[in-house]
Amino acid sequence: MAQEERMLIVGGERLEGTVRVSGGKNTSVAIIPATILSSTPCVIENLPNIEDVHVSVETLRYLGARVDWDPAEGLMQVDASSINRTDVPLDLCRRMRASSYYIGALLARFGRAQVPLPGGCDIGRRPIDQHIKGMRALGARVDTQRGTVIAEADPLVGADVFLDMATVGGTINVMLAASRAQGTTTIYNAAKEPHIVDLANFLNSMGCRVKGAGTDVIRVRGTQTLASRRPYAVIPDQIETGTLMIAAAATHGDVTITGCIPTHMEALTAKLLEMGAKVYEHDDSIRVRSLGAHRGVTFKTQVYPGFPTDLQQPMSALLCTATGTSTVVENIFESRFRHLAEMERMGARVRIFEQTAVIEGVPMLHGAAVEATDLRAGAALVVAGLMAQGTTEIYNTHFIDRGYENLEQKFASLGARISRVRE
Ligand code: EPZ
Repeated sequence: MAQEERMLIVGGERLEGTVRVSGGKNTSVAIIPATILSSTPCVIENLPNIEDVHVSVETLRYLGARVDWDPAEGLMQVDASSINRTDVPLDLCRRMRASSYYIGALLARFGRAQVPLPGGCDIGRRPIDQHIKGMRALGARVDTQRGTVIAEADPLVGADVFLDMATVGGTINVMLAASRAQGTTTIYNAAKEPHIVDLANFLNSMGCRVKGAGTDVIRVRGTQTLASRRPYAVIPDQIETGTLMIAAAATHGDVTITGCIPTHMEALTAKLLEMGAKVYEHDDSIRVRSLGAHRGVTFKTQVYPGFPTDLQQPMSALLCTATGTSTVVENIFESRFRHLAEMERMGARVRIFEQTAVIEGVPMLHGAAVEATDLRAGAALVVAGLMAQGTTEIYNTHFIDRGYENLEQKFASLGARISRVRE
């Protein structure tokens, strides 16, 4: 039986040079379902060649849309006029958490949707009760039968939606449903992440009227006909940018990340500066240099513009060799520390108390065989492997492929000794 594919890293190389960040995963998985709303074909640019985008393409094709997708160019053309069904199959929902967005998009376009509940994962339960609360507020009848959400509305009517927490997915789903509802929807306690703004800009480029995206109150004036008139390029990936910044610091390297948006990175930049790394911001690039030892820091994950939960895992890897004690508080998901147990195999010294991890800095990590348990845990293990002495083997690389385009090629181009093996 062929051995499982794994990533092999010989650590200790300083990362140096320039690397371009890919288009954003979390914005792409929101904008692709939004193409269902357009009465004209949509052209989307700068899409990353990652598993979640492939699953999104399969989902649109399953529904009957015509999709031309060039992974190398990051270019996609969607003609949703031929969609002839409103149910998403379980096997596609199992492969991508963002399948829940098809509830809002299909309800808005067809008045009905049948989408299996997204499974939980290693970072927490991840319910979608707020998504359902939002659909019901817009007048939809929503039932959950045998693990599948069945929603109907004729028609959706704009309303006030008060989210119990600033949920990214909940905000996105309600925006999608509200875009073609009758009247205006106001979303209170809305998430403010960069990809919320990107989705609003895409909806507005199709003739919708979304105001307030990026603040905690978003107003969507429903528009019966939405029509894409020009190509739309998704924003760069905030979390890939952060992962590359953290890896640059972790290897005491000197890396310039181009095609990014520095203002999206402020919470991480502040922490890297506090640790003693140097960060230089330009219009669409960030340079990270680190020469001396890093000071340990404390950080707590928060909704945007706070420290992103998706960077908690890679950052905790960097803190394993910082001087002194660091404290990490994970406020967004209930179990997002599983990567730390894997890093203990590499010599990390960590104690966990519920949502708080206390990391005692050690002089050096050493290579080991470790397993990725989710996407960003995989990224954390790559960072740990890059800075460790010796060789690290990372299993379950499919998690990494969900959210990072050509990650090892990017790191190899900066001087890392990293490859994939399957024998
Ligand atoms: C999105 O997940 C991202 N995924 C996550 O990125 C990211 O970690 C998260 O936002 C926070 O920024 C995509 O965009 C595809 P939430 P989402 O709804 O929408 C609870 C990655 O690595 N909640 O803001 O699921 C929920 O359980 C992934 O790229 C409810 O209780 O995040 C969580 O504890 C991982 N009920 C918290 O809110 C709901 O109806 C935040 O979840 C919705 C959420």
